[in-house]
Amino acid sequence: MNNFTFHNPVRVYFGDDKLQELPDLVKEFGSKVLLVYGKSSIKRMGLYDKVVDLLQSNNIDIVELSGIDPNPRIESVREGGELCKKHDIDLVLAVGGGSVIDAAKGIASAALYDGDPWDFYSYKVQSEGALPIGTILTLSATGSEMNRGSVVTNLKTKQKHGWGSPYTYPKFSILDPRNTFTVNQHQTGCGIVDSLTHVYEFYFSKNDNYLNNRICEAIMKTVIHYGPQAIDNPENYEARANLMFGSTLALNGLTGFSNTWDGFNHTTEHVLSAYYDIAHADGLAILGPHWMNYILDESNVQKFKEFAINVWEVEDRGTDMEIAKRGIQAVFDFYQSIHMPTQLSNVNIDDKEFDEIASYATRYGESVGRFKELSKDDVLQILINAK
Ligand code: NZQ
Ligand code: ZN
Repeated sequence: MNNFTFHNPVRVYFGDDKLQELPDLVKEFGSKVLLVYGKSSIKRMGLYDKVVDLLQSNNIDIVELSGIDPNPRIESVREGGELCKKHDIDLVLAVGGGSVIDAAKGIASAALYDGDPWDFYSYKVQSEGALPIGTILTLSATGSEMNRGSVVTNLKTKQKHGWGSPYTYPKFSILDPRNTFTVNQHQTGCGIVDSLTHVYEFYFSKNDNYLNNRICEAIMKTVIHYGPQAIDNPENYEARANLMFGSTLALNGLTGFSNTWDGFNHTTEHVLSAYYDIAHADGLAILGPHWMNYILDESNVQKFKEFAINVWEVEDRGTDMEIAKRGIQAVFDFYQSIHMPTQLSNVNIDDKEFDEIASYATRYGESVGRFKELSKDDVLQILINAK
């Protein structure tokens, strides 16, 4: 086991009716919130009314910022930061999925910064503080509710960058599985793939650790078990609950306390989304199994065999390589069974920008990925295989 420091300060309030805790939680930080949300889902499902009623009946003032896009834009972060300054906001309250929460983290940081918040996402400056952030999660996917990461897109520069600071951990997150009953088939599939990818980007680690691997397997098996049930029956509480906390645990530090993050899938996917504005997990579903096929070789076949048997319950029969390949095929089959794309053509992406995408994915050096270091040419080949 590698040395590590584990620190996660987010307070999670999980379960039915946990929303009732909201006024007391907000009051720990003040009496004026910036309520940040997306386009229309929280109004359609009745959550907006519940949140507003609870806040108003407890004398908490509300300023609103709505319309946060999936793949949130830097423009929303700028606007939110200005609203916080203008209205002397005490807490930024995100009600939504990862995009809304990520935008809220940028907004809370922009509120205490005089420059352009894109400076954070382009790594020009590190922030020196942020307003407190609270979240009410409505979509199980990113883990943003229990981590410090914030991914924001600058469409003008074709950049989608992840950033975070010690101040961008939410102070509290309210997770009621019922708030995910209205998530449609595609977004549920996206959440399943995003959670699985978060975990396997730590599972495929060169110096992996036994306990870390078993934690990863438990989360992946849970998501694989309950994902299809949530798709078939969107109001299955137990399925939604397992997906919800599974996706939270997938990226809150627990899956990578000792194992190292590979990073190929997320780094390359963020470039794809920046160019084509596709859903994050559509990109991940396409890249993941093609990446596995490309990197599998004699040096890592044991790890893929472990993945096949322990996660996908592939029969321990035949050569190691045959078992490993059947495991990768199981990933393809599972993604297709939950109606997720596995080829770029499924989301109307052709090969025009492949060269630029491969260059940008390897911008931090000669390669991307740690489990297997991949050059620009390798990335290009994976994109071609995924065409
Ligand atoms: O805008 P509204 O109307 O709210 O609709 C949203 C949106 O269209 C809808 N939705 C959310 N909750 C719903 C619902 N529809 C019905 N019922 C509900 N209860 O779902 C759509 C997608 O929402 P979004 O927030 O974009 O999805 P997700 O949670 O998957 O977030 C994706 C973003 O997070 C980033 C991604 O790159 C992407 O930008 N990530 C953030 C990470 C982090 N902070 O740690 C890590 C991830 O790897 C990821 O990169
Ligand atoms: Zn992700």
